[in-house]
Amino acid sequence: MSKKVLITGVAGMIGSRMAEWIVQHQPDYQVIGIDDLSGGYPENVPGKVDFIRMDLVSGDLDSIFSQQRIDYVFHFAAYAAEGLSPFIRRFNYNSNLIATANVVNACIKYEVKRLVFTSSMAVYGIGNPPFSESSVPNPVDPYGVAKFACEMDIRIAGDQHNLDWCIIRPHNVYGRNQNIWDKYRNVLGIWMYQHLHGEGLTIFGDGSQKRAFSYVDDCLEPLWKAAVSEKASRQIINLGSDVETSVLEAARMLKGIIGEEAEIVFLEQRHEVKNAYSTHERATELLDYKDSTPLQEGLAAMWAWAKQQPARERKEWSDYEIDKGMYAFWKK
Ligand SMILES: NC(=O)c1ccc[n+]([C@@H]2O[C@H](COP(=O)([O-])OP(=O)(O)OC[C@H]3O[C@@H](n4cnc5c(N)ncnc54)[C@H](O)[C@@H]3O)[C@@H](O)[C@H]2O)c1
Repeated sequence: MSKKVLITGVAGMIGSRMAEWIVQHQPDYQVIGIDDLSGGYPENVPGKVDFIRMDLVSGDLDSIFSQQRIDYVFHFAAYAAEGLSPFIRRFNYNSNLIATANVVNACIKYEVKRLVFTSSMAVYGIGNPPFSESSVPNPVDPYGVAKFACEMDIRIAGDQHNLDWCIIRPHNVYGRNQNIWDKYRNVLGIWMYQHLHGEGLTIFGDGSQKRAFSYVDDCLEPLWKAAVSEKASRQIINLGSDVETSVLEAARMLKGIIGEEAEIVFLEQRHEVKNAYSTHERATELLDYKDSTPLQEGLAAMWAWAKQQPARERKEWSDYEIDKGMYAFWKK
């Protein structure tokens, strides 16, 4: 009987790429994937994956866990629109926190060997970057609050119910299979969409805010080790690139790839952390992470993929939960 891995969010970027990696490198494992297709696409899911369309907030996870002996769970499903999260609070807590509670319940009940959860650098909020795992979390938006609450919940499940876990805090991951049709998240993908549609590349504020963009391919083997390595048991680990880049520098780099005629458009500043990047000693030591792909190279590869994508409808919210304080660029 083959060993089994469950990936939630399998139609999204990290989930689908992780599924591909496992199919290719870990043939002893069968991959079961769950996604409600709210932010991912069925075309992303590799053919060998046993795919189940399900919303983790309301779906019946027992029906899956009771029929399959699942060894490891990668819980990637989320709606990661950090900047929008103050305007869709309830949705944010459902898709991030309540969904995670359902996954944690199933992992405890069916005794999975380890739960790997992708938290986020958003838990650090305002602080003094580079953020290390020992920095005190201080999230500044509901998305970061939800991720931190999930982390605490998982740790409690570890202490009380002996659930083994590894919490990964990735940051600014990009690459093939990213959702470039969602106007509220993934700045590099937003720029690619804008350029493909004859629009300028938009930047919030003056673009001096710094991020460390991390190529998805570099994160896949480390994520696998987060599940199976003894060293990663009950650890919190930052994951991503060591090189911080200003958003303006990143836009200029992309212009060099897509065409210098691309215009950069500056929008009003939004409520966000100015500089956000992390230390990676623990990822190197515990997960053998290597920051192999420079931004220039990763952007070129993602752009080559983006140009081949079908025309898809852009994700727009018809109603926000609150409009008060909404930025002009997202106003209805
Ligand atoms: N990409 C990044 O830069 C980054 C950085 C930090 C953390 N993360 C975290 O990593 C994880 C994966 O990110 P990603 O970039 O692949 O995102 P993604 O949006 O590409 O994938 C998430 C997937 O989850 C699915 N999903 C959302 N809500 C669901 C629900 N209620 N039930 C079932 N499926 C649901 C979506 O349809 C989507 O396919 C997320 O938890 C995200 O918060 C990502």
